[in-house]
Amino acid sequence: MDIENVAKTQLDTRLAKAKPIKLGWSSDETDRIASALNELLANFQVHYQKLRNYHWNIKGPDFFDLHEEFENLYTETALHVDEVAERIRVFSHTPLSTMRDYLEHAAIKETGSDLQAEVMVREVLSDFRILLGYLVSVLSIASELEDAGTEQMIKGYIKKIEKHHWMLTAFLAK
Ligand SMILES: [Fe+2]
Repeated sequence: MDIENVAKTQLDTRLAKAKPIKLGWSSDETDRIASALNELLANFQVHYQKLRNYHWNIKGPDFFDLHEEFENLYTETALHVDEVAERIRVFSHTPLSTMRDYLEHAAIKETGSDLQAEVMVREVLSDFRILLGYLVSVLSIASELEDAGTEQMIKGYIKKIEKHHWMLTAFLAK
């Protein structure tokens, strides 16, 4: 066998051993991923609007710090919202797209606007913990279904939200 054929045979053997590339999932599988992603999306959207509410309505001695931090957080959340919705489209499902749907599906609840700064921060921290719960649940479905794209996306969010949770907790420490 010449060198070219040896190389070709080795490549064929490697390809035969490789797992098939997962370009498609069964409809049951995509239903599971898409519905978990839609719940996450609803929570991110309500959280996003709360951050805008707090950015606009924050008062008191921490105004400048928190006004800016809430903006940083909602800017990041807007990116997450878009990625999650588009990931749902990747699976040919429809992202929840109305405010009514978000409020109906989200565990995160809206608040009023006239809150003390500390209460706003506590609300955001509580939202983070709810989001982390949803993120872990999406991650577990994605790992089970070998959905590497969703896994990678979600792991990035977990790491960021855990860091924000630490920082806002430190901000509240007396
Ligand atoms: Fe602004």
